[in-house]
Amino acid sequence: MKKRFMLAVLILLFALVCPALSVCQAAGGATASPDHITLTWTDNPATTMTVTWRTDATITKGFVEYQKMAVPSDAAKRVKAASFGFTTDIQATRLFTAKLTGLSPNTKYSYRVGDGSRWSGKHAFMTADPKTKSFKFLVFGDSQSPADDYSLWGKIVHNAYNVNPDAKFMVNVGDLVDVGQDGAHWNSWFAAAEGVIDNIPEMPVVGNHETSGSPDTRRPAYWNAQFRLPQNGPVGLKNQVYSYDYGPVHLVVLDSQQSEQKQYGDILTPQVKWLDADLAASKAKWKIVFYHKGSYSVKDGRKNKKVKNAFSPVIEKHHIDLVFNAHDHGVGRTYPIKGDAYMPEPSKGTIYYVAGRSGTKAYDDVHKREWNTFFYNPQDQPNYFVIDVTDTTLTVKTVNMDGTLVDTFVIKKNNNTGRLNRFARPLALWLKSDRRLVAAGAGR
Ligand SMILES: [Fe+2]
Repeated sequence: MKKRFMLAVLILLFALVCPALSVCQAAGGATASPDHITLTWTDNPATTMTVTWRTDATITKGFVEYQKMAVPSDAAKRVKAASFGFTTDIQATRLFTAKLTGLSPNTKYSYRVGDGSRWSGKHAFMTADPKTKSFKFLVFGDSQSPADDYSLWGKIVHNAYNVNPDAKFMVNVGDLVDVGQDGAHWNSWFAAAEGVIDNIPEMPVVGNHETSGSPDTRRPAYWNAQFRLPQNGPVGLKNQVYSYDYGPVHLVVLDSQQSEQKQYGDILTPQVKWLDADLAASKAKWKIVFYHKGSYSVKDGRKNKKVKNAFSPVIEKHHIDLVFNAHDHGVGRTYPIKGDAYMPEPSKGTIYYVAGRSGTKAYDDVHKREWNTFFYNPQDQPNYFVIDVTDTTLTVKTVNMDGTLVDTFVIKKNNNTGRLNRFARPLALWLKSDRRLVAAGAGR
């Protein structure tokens, strides 16, 4: 009897101190206190913000408290969060989501999340200025790290944000984690990104690794549970496929994981139909599309033909300015392309980037392909991109984790019509590097 009593006391003590023990956090992470706090948009970036977080399964209610930072007298508002239980391979958790609405544009807010008694620390976000014509955002290629060591990802995302504190949001172009249905990988990923994704929205893309790790489903279940995104995509693919606007830019996120989700039928055709309508409806000056498996790969032997044949005709029909792909862990930039032909200037074609890597995994079989005007293999350290947008220019900077500038590429667009669209670099100089590839149809 005495032994049983002692055992019960020990279990109780362990439950009380577990949240503070690293062994407990490594095993599952979630406690009664909020973590994995993440900003996204599910609606207008000027007047709304969506906040998600998690706790362990003992917590059943959640709130966001927020107020304007520049107005000390502004009374804190409280919004009740929706929540659902989500059991990972290692732990039962509860995920909370709240959409803050009616926010003032171009305004900084402080916020905290909690159940009314246990609160997170104070965080802050900035709403968009709907009239802005000039802003920047960050793009990261695959952050996946096979040994569940996301320290490099943590370093690069913090480095990128520290030197670009005015970035308005960030995009991970898929394969955020190595094993998509593995709670430990996500715990490490979120812990590494803490301090960034709770300050600026993260608008992620599904990669093939988000679908891995589960024998009974190849839907990106953990990804869908943890990120709340615009619900304007095609039926059956909502959250995984979406679009939104920020300033003069229309941004579209697609799902290239047909082969991993083949048991759900054809997921490309519904996206093509949706994409055609989505792009036709947009009057944005700049248009950027993201999907994981690229139309123009830099990795030996990779073609991604089904994805390319589905997405690229619609992308090029609507003259998308930039496409960001990933998957290859190398950096590539193509000529302007239309119908597999290399065009002499961006006004006549779409430029495809492969986004390199922001995690530990690097390949040695990535090379400059015939369609590339720029190639870089980030073997020594990961890389990221800073996208600077103005009314007349779209600038893509490729930057190493240590801040070294690798490449700058600028597209110019006429201020009035949007039709005059040239490289900032003189065309003659650009053509000099490989004139033969400019001929329409070369390199098909
Ligand atoms: Fe991938």
